[in-house]
Amino acid sequence: MYCVREVTDRLYWVGANDHRLTLFENIHPIPKGVSYNSYLLLDEKTVLFDTIDWSCCRQLVENVEHLLGDRALDYLVINHMEPDHGASLQEILIRWPQVKIISTEKAFMLMRQFGFTVDGHEQIRVREGDTFCFGKHTVTFIAAPMVHWPEAMVTFDTTNGVLFSADAFGSFIALDGKLFADEVNFERDWLDEARRYYTNIVGKYGPHTQLLLKKAAGILDQIKLICPLHGPVWRKDIPWFVHKYDLWSRYEPEEKGVLIAYASMYGNTESAAQALAARLCEKGVTNVAVYDVSNTHVSTLIAETFRYSHLVLASVTYNLGIYPVMHNFLADMKALNVQNRTVAIVENGSWACKSGELMEQFVRTQMKNMTVLDRKLSLASSLPASKAGELEALADAIVESVQKA
Ligand code: FEO
Repeated sequence: MYCVREVTDRLYWVGANDHRLTLFENIHPIPKGVSYNSYLLLDEKTVLFDTIDWSCCRQLVENVEHLLGDRALDYLVINHMEPDHGASLQEILIRWPQVKIISTEKAFMLMRQFGFTVDGHEQIRVREGDTFCFGKHTVTFIAAPMVHWPEAMVTFDTTNGVLFSADAFGSFIALDGKLFADEVNFERDWLDEARRYYTNIVGKYGPHTQLLLKKAAGILDQIKLICPLHGPVWRKDIPWFVHKYDLWSRYEPEEKGVLIAYASMYGNTESAAQALAARLCEKGVTNVAVYDVSNTHVSTLIAETFRYSHLVLASVTYNLGIYPVMHNFLADMKALNVQNRTVAIVENGSWACKSGELMEQFVRTQMKNMTVLDRKLSLASSLPASKAGELEALADAIVESVQKA
């Protein structure tokens, strides 16, 4: 059965929702699913903007066939060739062989790399600033390299103010009937997953996202709708969400607060993390989140790191090094370009305690613009009452730093 929604006059969402996929990109859990968005414009010419993941291709075809009726599909605009959007390309070409493909040079290269037989079909290569008219609607193409793949572009319909933004402004969570961000309580129910999506998928490419935002700023008053490739369409509060993207892509924290990430084998480092959290709250810093790195997916830790201004790394020593799961978190922060945070260290070791020194070294030498507080807490197996003063001093140092942030 077809399942479509009208976005605006003559423009329809023809994508699909996926609750079967467990891991997005085979790495990030998506317990609430994800949507693959594709859009069909019925102008004097018919235009499909991007396809969807192969697993949902049948739904896309039903949707497009339903809306086209007897009409042909004239154009296919590919903004992004990652397979969660490009994988149904071949099926579209088989069903509508006369369709003309509009995309960037690099995207055509990727189509061939992925094994799609695009040669023999009319290919229209576009670059930054090129325009194309489909009848009443004229679009302009805006390059968005490395947001988050090199071939990416976004397409702006100058007639109705619709920005087809590729992965930018996307989110995890299946739409399940909803289409617009104002049809859900986005801040309450979606923001965490939008942050987790951006920071883990695009987070490394903050400077490239900033370039795209600067281009968007030039036409912000003309943008009426943002149609991303995942998650809801934006028609209200666009500046609010653009501001979130601005913060994330500048690696600026959203909130003054403290993320405590602990790695604990037998509960003693955990106990110290909890005692520290309690001291912080007692001193008035109540925006505190505590996570066990061993049972929290690293994509959540990354998203929370982008959210908070301060980070406490509390780790046991393991094989004379950093506990492996904590080390993985550190490596992921580095890979995703996390910066501009203040870090406090809690270390533990029953003998040859090394984790604190190594974590500090990692943060100082492998990451950018990070501040490590001088005050640390060093434990030998557990946190005894005799260390209450040191705990208190560390909490004071963090509170002072948060208040200055
Ligand atoms: Fe949603 Fe970069 O693909």
